[in-house]
Amino acid sequence: MSFPNKRLRRLRKTPALRRLVAETRLNVDDLVAPLFVREGIDDPVSIPSLTGVQQHTRESLVKEVRELQSLGVPGIILFGIPEQKDHQGSQAWNPDGIVQLALQDCRDEVGEGMVLIADLCIDEYTDHGHCGVVREDGSVDNDETINIYGRVAQAQARAGADIVAPSGMMDGQVRAIREALDKDNHEEVAILAYSAKYASGLYGPFREAVDVTIADGGDRKTYQQDWRNRREALAEIQADEEEGADMIMVKPAISYLDIIAEARNITDLPIAAYHVSGEYAMIKAAASQNLIDGDVVALEQLTAIKRAGADFILTYLTREIAETL
Ligand code: PBG
Repeated sequence: MSFPNKRLRRLRKTPALRRLVAETRLNVDDLVAPLFVREGIDDPVSIPSLTGVQQHTRESLVKEVRELQSLGVPGIILFGIPEQKDHQGSQAWNPDGIVQLALQDCRDEVGEGMVLIADLCIDEYTDHGHCGVVREDGSVDNDETINIYGRVAQAQARAGADIVAPSGMMDGQVRAIREALDKDNHEEVAILAYSAKYASGLYGPFREAVDVTIADGGDRKTYQQDWRNRREALAEIQADEEEGADMIMVKPAISYLDIIAEARNITDLPIAAYHVSGEYAMIKAAASQNLIDGDVVALEQLTAIKRAGADFILTYLTREIAETL
């Protein structure tokens, strides 16, 4: 009989044995910390929906980055909250905009010691909260938006980003950004494409973190993916690879492990997964009511994301996991 008898049980006997045969190992090298920097505040502001996460000042951001670096965390992804929002999100490409200034601060602090990723989108910067330019009829103008993304990419690259990460799910955004970067002599700046990004209910706490409300009770279902669909995720990933993405992302993570696993089969590019704000907040909320052991579930979820095939994980758990590993 091919049944392995009691072998599997034997190999689970002690913690050391289990360690020895573990197939998946979560490491601090797998983690990227999402960080928020807000213009016009004197002290960091706690984000009620994201226990333990803050909107940073430029100073407190640099301090956090330094501490993450000393914990061995390889990278951060930066989101900005500007004082002024307008129809086009112009602060997103202003050389003196908050993310550009913060990128320079971080670069001065860590040199090449850490990977600096800039989230590339305009929803934090627009008064209507959409990821693209909105026409009079309320629809999002894809092609006008990707021109703007090109400008944002150039501003972020000039400010020192190693990687720009377009998260707006516009068609053709990767190609437009690659061309804009190359034209501006930033051939070395990489693109991490949020390729398979679903119109998820799990982004709620993030919107509070970046102070975004979508106008007229709107949603992102015309540009983000329908969670009922699997095949279009693969098409999006393939398209981004063809357009010149250097890495791709699946987002959110835990409800989309099947997509991560399939992505692994169709691309050799590094795959990132975003364990998003709602996933983090659910762990924290359940743990605070003693319904689960939050530390255990955090490790379990992040390990599962790796087991599914992700090469690295963007997670608000980065700091605490780095401290325990
Ligand atoms: C868009 C963006 C969002 C997130 C990352 N980039 C929000 C959205 O698409 O509505 C969500 C991240 C999270 O929930 O942790 N700029």
